[in-house]
Amino acid sequence: MDTYKKAGTFRSVAELREYLAANNIDIPLAEEAEHSAMARPAELFGRSLQNRWALLPMEGWDCTAGGAPSDLTVRRWTHFGESGAALICGTEAGAVMHAGRSNPRQLLVTRENLPELKAAVAAMRKAHSERFGTAGDFLVGLQLTHSGRFAHPNRDDRLESAVAWTNPLLDRKFGAPRVVTDSEVCDIIRAYGEAARVAREAGFDFVDLKHAHGYLAHDFLTAYERPGPYGGPFENRTRFSREMASTVKEACPDLPIAMRLSIFDILPFEKGSDGIGRPMAIQDENQSGGFQISDFRFQKVRPFGAAEDCLSMDPDLEEPVAFLEMMREYGVELVCGTIGSPYYSVHIQRPAYYPVCDGYLPPQDPLRSVAMHIAAARRLKERCPWAKIVLSGLTCLQEDAGCAAEAAVAQAAAAAGAVKNEELRVKSSGNDELLHSSTPPLLTDSVMRPGPAKSAAADFAGLGRMALSYPEYCADHLAGGKFDRRRICRTFGECTNAPRHGRVSGCYPLDFFYKTLEKGRN
Ligand SMILES: Cc1cc2nc3c(=O)[nH]c(=O)nc-3n(C[C@H](O)[C@H](O)[C@H](O)COP(=O)(O)O)c2cc1C
Ligand code: SF4
Repeated sequence: MDTYKKAGTFRSVAELREYLAANNIDIPLAEEAEHSAMARPAELFGRSLQNRWALLPMEGWDCTAGGAPSDLTVRRWTHFGESGAALICGTEAGAVMHAGRSNPRQLLVTRENLPELKAAVAAMRKAHSERFGTAGDFLVGLQLTHSGRFAHPNRDDRLESAVAWTNPLLDRKFGAPRVVTDSEVCDIIRAYGEAARVAREAGFDFVDLKHAHGYLAHDFLTAYERPGPYGGPFENRTRFSREMASTVKEACPDLPIAMRLSIFDILPFEKGSDGIGRPMAIQDENQSGGFQISDFRFQKVRPFGAAEDCLSMDPDLEEPVAFLEMMREYGVELVCGTIGSPYYSVHIQRPAYYPVCDGYLPPQDPLRSVAMHIAAARRLKERCPWAKIVLSGLTCLQEDAGCAAEAAVAQAAAAAGAVKNEELRVKSSGNDELLHSSTPPLLTDSVMRPGPAKSAAADFAGLGRMALSYPEYCADHLAGGKFDRRRICRTFGECTNAPRHGRVSGCYPLDFFYKTLEKGRN
């Protein structure tokens, strides 16, 4: 395990940059005083956005039993409206049908919930226009999903999995699931079409079709062993997504489609005897009855976007790129990037200093995981320059998330003619020579090849956990970067732990409201 210093303990950006350089972690950081690129306009879906901050979808586990937004949901969405971010990239995951809910309090995007959905979207827009004087530059999407392997529609403690295929590693970790039949697939796809209609009528500007984190649509992309039209070759493994996108398009021809995509995934991790996370495959290698490395080499369980040998951390984006090119035909323009999964590779998906209750100690410096988000987004942007990319995973940088956001979007802002290249003094801390090492490291030594130093990593910078502890981080950054340090997310993980124990999500350590919330304590 890396030994590391926590972001937030550095006295200046220069000190952080020095630390990153000494540890060969490639996180470009703009100068503290520079707040130029994030404030530049961006075009999206034919609209002009006034800045490049996005809020990532953040599920609250706080809807009614019927899946309608509750007062708590409206409170969170109102905060999103007040954040200063011009793009609300999916608001939160809404299930397209009851069986696909991740928990009994997940948002359910059905016609019965339309009045409450409408009111919640209106509250978010009102909050934005009251604070910033206009709602016209504010784009709000809704994420649509089916939780698949991680569905708990009826009880928090009862997993009712429905998967695309039986994946031996994940089945062993989470239990043997039920495989959805081809006729169920048709029902699920129909539900996406109806949910898109509901989203549009509720006032959302676009829908985000979630292909991430091991949920059903993401699961289909690796359904190597599923027989029939939805499994096997790439053409079949992407059929579910194509049918979903074309159904949504048919249902709402004028509603733009975005995509949350796990740009790459890795073999599942689990807690080792020392408490530190390690890949299941490596643990199993020498155990009788376990998996052999050759299983992974033969592609039986290759995670989407993973390196060909499944063991190096340098992803292979051939399939993710081919998939996005397919999705482009359905009008997908916005890609909200993410990596890994909160269920089996949480250390890369949401880099943190404190492990979540069902997780493990980080096997690497969490900032190395932040660097992986940036490198993955940059490589995707190079291969799909037409896509508007949202970068995730920055919250762990705490006070310096804004400097990384500036650096990440600088080149995209320059390319859009919004800011001159020479105005942007972005310094990279990475050691390109080492990062280009030709020997692929094992999963635990995560090193990713970066793109050319000057290429854009993203068009928008997204915030997830920071949006719960300190939604106005975006507005304060745009106003010059004077932050209220008491509200900066320190990655304590309580917003994840609370729902794991059947409580609503929220920033319990820093948002006083949740400390006193009776409902949250039950
Ligand atoms: C409490 C919580 C809820 C989340 N809900 C969603 C969700 O509904 N949909 C989704 O795609 N990702 C979800 N995520 C992942 C975030 O969107 C984001 O990718 C992750 O937190 C990393 O970004 P950050 O470092 O800015 O927090 C959630 C994360 C947390 C901690
Ligand atoms: S509970 Fe609050 S401080 Fe902790 S990770 Fe979540 S948002 Fe951050």
